[in-house]
Amino acid sequence: MDLTRDQERLLTHGTAAERKSMELLVALGEVYGASRLIPVTSVHVSGASYKIVGEAGLEFLEEFSQTARVKVRTTVNPLGMDLQAWSSMRIPEDFASRQLRIVEAYRRMGAEETWSCIPYQIGNRPAMGEHVAWAESSAAIFANSVLGARTNREGGPSALASGITGLTPNYGLHLDKNRTATIRVRVIASLSGYEFSLLGHHLGKLLGSGVPLIEDIKGQEDELKAMGAGMATSSDITLYHVKGLTPEWETVEVSGIETVEVTESDLEEAKAQLLSAEHYELIAFGCPQLSRRELEEVADLMEREEPRVPVWVFTSRLMAKGAERAIQRIRAMGGTVVFDTCPEVTPLDLIAHEVGSPSAKAAVYLPALSGQRVHIADSKELMRKER
Ligand code: F3S
Repeated sequence: MDLTRDQERLLTHGTAAERKSMELLVALGEVYGASRLIPVTSVHVSGASYKIVGEAGLEFLEEFSQTARVKVRTTVNPLGMDLQAWSSMRIPEDFASRQLRIVEAYRRMGAEETWSCIPYQIGNRPAMGEHVAWAESSAAIFANSVLGARTNREGGPSALASGITGLTPNYGLHLDKNRTATIRVRVIASLSGYEFSLLGHHLGKLLGSGVPLIEDIKGQEDELKAMGAGMATSSDITLYHVKGLTPEWETVEVSGIETVEVTESDLEEAKAQLLSAEHYELIAFGCPQLSRRELEEVADLMEREEPRVPVWVFTSRLMAKGAERAIQRIRAMGGTVVFDTCPEVTPLDLIAHEVGSPSAKAAVYLPALSGQRVHIADSKELMRKER
């Protein structure tokens, strides 16, 4: 790979963190055949929850942060607890103190304390064509597909290395040739609510990889967010196009590619595969974390349906600004609003073993990460259903 003089200097004479970051990015670039490193305008890092990174991750971050300072805007994924209300979440003291050391390490590095998987809805929103380096599969697929920004699906370490150097290897979805559709998807179903998440998960399983061009669906940003999160959960797909909705769909050449169809019965089957519990003790909303519009929808729903089980709502603390009224309404109906974390990366299993959720990603990760069982259903149905 061709490095500029400045990049060579960073590789050989940078701080320990800069050298390590450059080594990682150059190795990655060589594996994937990148000819050079390119600048990125923002980075989103995953690997901030102590539940996920554990002792090894904590030690790495503490050591790395001694010499690491981010060079570009760097936002960070959810932590393992609400930074202000962790004791009411029954988080053990030991977990909390380790989690706080991780927070301190990111702080030292100069990362923004977002603790959120929806950076694009709280201000880190790259423009069309901007090169970024984002970890968190649901965020990377959103950046590519809905915003038209360019990122590969980074892992926590490679995204952090991009934060420290401001660079990423130029391969994969940074290149025009890899952004064209590889398959066309006709959706013969009218979608609402959680069905976007089911559709995403189903398509991921069906296609595995590539770039689908999806036709015949209509949805707003939050629906596309849910669909992308579902798709990224069950596949390597990190870019999709939607006819008439996403910014690059018109530039995509579709002649000669195969077409697949998705019907209502495919979605029913997807639901059946994801359902691991008939009952639930708690409803968790917010995988991905909720936007202002989604917080308002939950508030409306709670006022209409009076849920029979506790409702926990996960969002970013930054999202709360401007959503005070919705949050107040959720709390007035007995709901718990949690910031800085998410249903999967906090030890929610200390509170509930069977969880109701409208998210396909939650239906996969809660069982995988914590052995919890999930009743997946539409939000309205979850609120109504008897225990
Ligand atoms: Fe976000 Fe956690 Fe789901 S990071 S996408 S809420 S697993």
